[in-house]
Parts: sequence; structure tokens; C-alpha cells
Amino acid sequence: MNFKDSVVIVTGAGNGIGRGVALGYANEGAKVVVADIDREAAEATLNLINSTYGDGLFIETDVRDPKQITHLMDETIRIYGKINILINNAGVSRFKSVYELSVEEWDDVLNINLRGNFLCAREAAKYIRRNDSGGAIVNIASTRAFMSEKDSEAYAATKGGIYALTHALAMSLQDDHILVNSISPGWIETGDYSSLRNIDHKQHPSKRVGKPEDVARACLFLTNPMNDFITGENLIVDGGMTRKMIYEH
Ligand SMILES: NC(=O)c1ccc[n+]([C@@H]2O[C@H](COP(=O)([O-])OP(=O)(O)OC[C@H]3O[C@@H](n4cnc5c(N)ncnc54)[C@H](O)[C@@H]3O)[C@@H](O)[C@H]2O)c1
Repeated sequence: MNFKDSVVIVTGAGNGIGRGVALGYANEGAKVVVADIDREAAEATLNLINSTYGDGLFIETDVRDPKQITHLMDETIRIYGKINILINNAGVSRFKSVYELSVEEWDDVLNINLRGNFLCAREAAKYIRRNDSGGAIVNIASTRAFMSEKDSEAYAATKGGIYALTHALAMSLQDDHILVNSISPGWIETGDYSSLRNIDHKQHPSKRVGKPEDVARACLFLTNPMNDFITGENLIVDGGMTRKMIYEH
């Protein structure tokens, strides 16, 4: 129960990786704030937290809206009195031909994945710095910050942006004792894991596709006060895929 007295905000915690991260902290005794635009999904996560582990809260939040982000932080303070950890996980991947991607679509992906990430970090840091022991922020990037498939310009740009934003924030927030790191997941299966094919698993040096719990454990590691010598860093959690040479022999 390393996080028993911690208040943790997880954006995008209604589904997939965010839900896994929220449950990971709840399992360690934290009070978890589920922040998501999807009410139904978020309430399902909240039910899991409250029926299994104890203490959670849902605050409906669209990370595109600066006012809703301020409300998220203020409400968390009103109810729990402090913020120790922020996991910036909310994100969308909309792939479209480079020739067809409109300005509106580009802006929307940037506003959710990158601007939302910055605004949540800025607003959470205003409270995290009040703690004697500071706290930590983890931004969820992607291995697509470093490698690409076709038609992923907006998404890739946000994830590269998160990589750079992370080390900039780590420098700016150092005197407030706030650690800032990112995690770059590879293929994390958020659907039916049992439907994956043998080849899906075998192509990974780890010999399996990732799960939300893999990212959750990385978050727990990076936000554990015992690991406070790590800041401004990016941790790749991809079963070795970005280390694999793909020349065919
Ligand atoms: N699944 C993967 O393989 C993978 C790989 C690399 C990176 N990631 C990143 O991990 C994060 C989570 O991905 P996932 O696969 O769990 O996705 P997901 O679609 O399953 O979940 C994303 C969550 O974010 C929420 N969300 C979307 N727009 C929002 C907004 N404007 N405001 C608040 N919440 C919003 C959704 O409602 C949803 O609950 C994303 O940042 C994604 O880019 C995922």
C-alpha cells in the first residue's frame, strides 16, 4: 500500500489504459479521481474502484476545455484536500490521409492530446507544489513519438510534443519538487486480449502483446517517492518492439 495517503488524478480513466492505471493506484490504497468525457465508461471504472478497493471519485472533464480542467483540480481539492499525482492519459488516435486531414481535425487532436496534457499539468502543479513532499506527473506518450505508420501525422506530432513537453516541465517544476516523466507504450491491447493471434504476440521480443496493467506498473514505479532520482525521462513500455531490427533476410 505504497500510495495509501495519495490523491491521484487519471485523465481518460473510463476506458483502456487509463482504467488499468486507475485500478492500479486504487489497489495500492490511493484515492483516485477518474476524469473522463465519457460518463458511462467513467462510472463503470468508478464502480470497480469503489466495490473492490474503496475510494474513488468521478469528475466529468473534457480536456479540450480549460475551464473544465480548472474545475477538475478545484473539485479534487474540495473533496480530497490535495493532489499528489497526475496521470495525463486522455488521448485520441485519428488516422487520416495527410492530403485529407483538415485544420479542424488537426487542431482537435492537438487540443486533446497535447494542449490538454499541458493544461492539466499546469493546473495540477499549482496544487501539487503545496505538498511538503511535492508529487509527480506522468504523461502518456507513445512509441509513435519515435516511429510511424502512414496517415498518423497529427497523432505522432502530439506524442513527440508530449516527449518534449515532459522534459521542459521537469525543469520548470523542479523547485516545486514535482517529478515529470513520460511513458511511451507500444501495442497495449485494450479490447479482447484472448482474440489476439499467435503472430501478434510472437513478433514482440517480449513474446506477448502489452496490457493496461503493464502501463499501470510503470506509472506506479515512476511516481513512487523512492524513485525520485528519475525526472524528465521517457520510459518505453513496448515489449522491445522499438529495439527490434526489421531487415528481412
Ligand atoms: N492502446 C495502445 O496501444 C496505446 C499505445 C500507445 C499510446 N497510447 C496512449 O494511451 C492513452 C490511452 O489510450 P487507450 O488505448 O486506453 O485509449 P481508449 O480510447 O481506450 O481510452 C481513452 C480514454 O480517453 C477519453 N477521452 C477521449 N477524449 C477525451 C477528452 N477530450 N477529455 C477527456 N477524456 C477523453 C476517452 O473517453 C477514453 O475513456 C492515449 O493517450 C493513447 O494515445 C495507447
